[in-house]
Amino acid sequence: MSETVVLKIGGNEIDDDAFLGGLARAVAVLRTRAAPVVVHGGGKEIARLQEAMGLQPRFVEGLRVTDEQTLTLTEMVLSGAVNKRLVARFLAHGVPAVGLSGVDGGLLRVKRLEHPSGDLGWVGEVTAVDPTLLRLLMAQGIVPVVSPVSLGPEGRSYNVNADQAAAALARALGADSLAFVTNVPGVLADGRVVERLLASEAEAWIGQGVISGGMVPKVRAALEVVASGVPEVRILDLDGLQSGGGTRVVAGSPTAGRP
Ligand SMILES: Nc1ncnc2c1ncn2[C@@H]1O[C@H](COP(=O)(O)OP(=O)(O)OP(=O)(O)O)[C@@H](O)[C@H]1O
Ligand SMILES: [Mg+2]
Repeated sequence: MSETVVLKIGGNEIDDDAFLGGLARAVAVLRTRAAPVVVHGGGKEIARLQEAMGLQPRFVEGLRVTDEQTLTLTEMVLSGAVNKRLVARFLAHGVPAVGLSGVDGGLLRVKRLEHPSGDLGWVGEVTAVDPTLLRLLMAQGIVPVVSPVSLGPEGRSYNVNADQAAAALARALGADSLAFVTNVPGVLADGRVVERLLASEAEAWIGQGVISGGMVPKVRAALEVVASGVPEVRILDLDGLQSGGGTRVVAGSPTAGRP
């Protein structure tokens, strides 16, 4: 069995032609030695459509507050336009790919997320993963491309932060590695990429505001995956994916974690 590599692709550059071409080439290369699973976001395009419809994007600790209308357009953007754009581009680069969302085949089941800061609306937290469909595709050499919109208990779709969806999939698949590909070269502190991010310093940096916005759910998801035993978890950009750079997220305290 080849290595299982989960790639989470952030939404900030997912409408950029050069980025999509670079990503498709990177996945084509990766596929020669590993079985990739791609999970994607699309935050920027959801915000654009929200604004076009006169809705104001709102976030709580990097998580999108999702009312009824926002849920509908989130599903349109993520499980529709963005998902098919990635699949089309992968196929054009000779990468067999199939798009699906967390709803399809009951891949990702959620319950309503209870956030200490208040009600986020139709936002889910993953409670169960059924990777059967992914394994069927991977066994055929097909790259699954997953939108994080997922299945709620009353048979409705829920918005799930894509970092959290990628983390849940990586755990359930027992992945060898998880890379969060985003629009910054890694976790930044004092303008520099942190090479190794330790669990003990991450929460302190979130508290101090050094880590903020969309980086908060990403770092927390990364820490959870590391704690569950996935050996390699990184936060990086597309260049870092190709060159092996970025931030490696590791368990432990500063003294235990550093040689
Ligand atoms: N310490 C930090 N280091 C790096 N980026 C940070 C930091 N604190 C906040 N950020 C912000 O986090 C952003 C990445 O999160 P964001 O949610 O926007 O992207 P994504 O998760 O890749 O995309 P999507 O949410 O669409 O999947 C960066 O562009 C940056 O603005
Ligand atoms: Mg994000």
